Amino acid sequence: MGSDAVLEVTGLRKAFRGIRGGRRVAVDGLDMTVPAGVVHGFLGPNGSGKTTTLRIVLGLVRADAGAARMLGRPVPAALPAVLRQVGAIVEQPQFFPAFSGRRNLRSLAGIAGLPPGRVEEVLELVGLRDRAKDRYKTYSLGMKQRLAIGAALLRSPRLLILDEPMNGLDPAGIHEVRETMRRLTREGASVLLSSHILAEVEQVCDSVSIISRGRHVRSGSVSEVLAGRPSGEVLIRIAAPEEGIQILTEAGFGARRDGTQVRVSGVTDPALVTERLAQRGHYLAELTPVRADLESVFLELTGPTEARPEPERKEGTQ
Ligand SMILES: Nc1ncnc2c1ncn2[C@@H]1O[C@H](COP(=O)(O)OP(=O)(O)OP(=O)(O)O)[C@@H](O)[C@H]1O
Ligand SMILES: [Mg+2]
Repeated sequence: MGSDAVLEVTGLRKAFRGIRGGRRVAVDGLDMTVPAGVVHGFLGPNGSGKTTTLRIVLGLVRADAGAARMLGRPVPAALPAVLRQVGAIVEQPQFFPAFSGRRNLRSLAGIAGLPPGRVEEVLELVGLRDRAKDRYKTYSLGMKQRLAIGAALLRSPRLLILDEPMNGLDPAGIHEVRETMRRLTREGASVLLSSHILAEVEQVCDSVSIISRGRHVRSGSVSEVLAGRPSGEVLIRIAAPEEGIQILTEAGFGARRDGTQVRVSGVTDPALVTERLAQRGHYLAELTPVRADLESVFLELTGPTEARPEPERKEGTQ
């Protein structure tokens, strides 16, 4: 394995018992490498196996096949040692509803043998200092989420694993979580963040692994994943847009007004757009290729996700 990886899974597989005695394959031979020192996005549609994968590497569920290494050690075998250096929120953490946020963290810190001062640092880090003395049950969803992140940060983890950490957070809360993750990586820690929301990953992650139906489909830096993926669209500016649209439509392109410009689709070679228009006496003032965004790459790689029946496989057919 690459020595720079904080997590590497190979051939990971997990099937759950489905209806009619069938097997539902949640993780289907997954390979994934999470590099050190970055915020890495673990991206996939609903039901694609993200939570199951994270539960496997944290020892909450047993894989049927495959191997995983976390912080260089095989897991689950080495989990007792490895977990000291890992903070995770995968399951909803259990806090005492009648205890304050501070008291909840203090009891967790006590179990971990950490000084109360660490609790104050963490409360500051997650922006809960002002509400630390209030009972947990009076917290908003976002505050509960931040307390959970605080709990995961208590031990100053080398690796922080967060399953959909932005759920239920308002923009300010999302901003704080993002800042917290960036700060952690500046301090040398690594973050693995699962999400099914692209914009979230695009904004905070350095690199990404995309999965679909329990399988790895693509990974790399966010820019690598986008690289070499022209959208097939260009924006052009011409003096007579309506005539230009007609010429381009006749030539087989898609063309429509987009503000003061014309958006041309179905473009494999922008030179053809220039040529067609010039042949008819129209000259471009501007031509800008439209960059594929992560959203379209994601949809292209993972296929439609809405109302897709779960892959159901009978035992013995695998
Ligand atoms: N304990 C379980 N028993 C049966 N099936 C399960 C169990 N846990 C997960 N699954 C199934 O495994 C598949 C993957 O689920 P998983 O929760 O890992 O997906 P996910 O990528 O985390 O989705 P989401 O984005 O909705 O959180 C789904 O089809 C799910 O129904
Ligand atoms: Mg999940």
